[in-house]
Amino acid sequence: MSFLSSRITSSSKKSYGMFAKAAAIADRDLIHLELGMPVHDTPDFIKDATIAALKAGDVHYSSFQGQPALRAALAEKITRFNAVPVDAGQVLVTNGLTQASYAAFMATINPGDEVILLDPYYPQHVGKIELCGGKVVLVPLDAENDFALRADWIAAKVTEKTRAVVLVNPCNPTGRIYTREELEALAEVAIRHNLVVISDEVYEYITFDGHAHISIAALPGMAERTITLSAFTKAYAMDGWRIGYAFASAELIGGMSKIVTNEVTHVNTFIQAGALAAVTGGDEAVAHMVGDDRAKRDIVVRAMNQMPGVTCMPPQGTIYAFPCVRETGLSSQELADRILDECGVVVEAGSFYGAAGEGYLRVCFGSQSAERIGEAMERLRGFFSGLKAA
Ligand SMILES: Cc1ncc(COP(=O)(O)O)c(C=O)c1O
Repeated sequence: MSFLSSRITSSSKKSYGMFAKAAAIADRDLIHLELGMPVHDTPDFIKDATIAALKAGDVHYSSFQGQPALRAALAEKITRFNAVPVDAGQVLVTNGLTQASYAAFMATINPGDEVILLDPYYPQHVGKIELCGGKVVLVPLDAENDFALRADWIAAKVTEKTRAVVLVNPCNPTGRIYTREELEALAEVAIRHNLVVISDEVYEYITFDGHAHISIAALPGMAERTITLSAFTKAYAMDGWRIGYAFASAELIGGMSKIVTNEVTHVNTFIQAGALAAVTGGDEAVAHMVGDDRAKRDIVVRAMNQMPGVTCMPPQGTIYAFPCVRETGLSSQELADRILDECGVVVEAGSFYGAAGEGYLRVCFGSQSAERIGEAMERLRGFFSGLKAA
């Protein structure tokens, strides 16, 4: 007999994909392009601010919702960058976006409520919704139409049990940045059906080619029904620090704050000093890292489009390419497994992100240096040429 509760769902066990398979291989020179782990080091000024706070004795319990100075700086950033006027009371500091999303689902979903996710999706959202007793309803997006956001398809899945829609924008895994028109259509559906929108914007700063990131909370009528989630994780290369935040109405943030307080009391204090340095002085460092990501994106897109059986649209944002490999005739999981076995490159199968991701691979170009990315592309070129010849 198991002592595990029924909350431990099959999907919450499934969030590791090729990472788990690759981790079991110890003695090979693997090139890891599966996890979205930035290759850059956290900028020194962020580390220095953290060390200074630690040395100054910033080691005690603090505001449960997050340190007031950090929340004030975030409110200023959100008002300016996200174009959503908020005050510090509408900001909650969390342990990465992961905790912010869990708090958002816990605070809004009653057991049995339906939550709409776009497929391909970010797998951890599925696990968390199910842990909260929610039912995931998938809306498959159309690969032929560049995974456009289809509000009419979302509307068609709304029932009287639908509580929320989850958006990932810029989108992991597809690399799409949704346009104002796409977001306006979704906003109209959310308002018409009185839905909450939970918008994961962890890649908001990682955008290319002039594609502007728009927060859906900035659209008319949306601020009161949107919970926006972000983190220092990707743009500032702070994935191991575990710091993120959410903003929403004071009521929703108050509810989420109760969840976080019950879970962890509050986020580590001196880490918040580092985050404050990042949000107030990090623009140049972010621009530098995003420039590096863009150069590596170009290497990957150019190389993959030259491989037989592969076509790769340039991602508009994020640190992932999502090449189509349907022409090979193999499933994405079979391909990811064979690529690992035969050439030591770890990529994720598109099917890991839902049925609509089948026929695609997710290739993270943000997790390695340009040199290692080049080497990975050489290995993949050999692999796909070999497939065609066979
Ligand atoms: C869409 C998305 N949301 C959330 C996360 C997790 O963010 P954090 O590490 O800040 O919890 C990731 C990490 O890859 C992600 O891609």
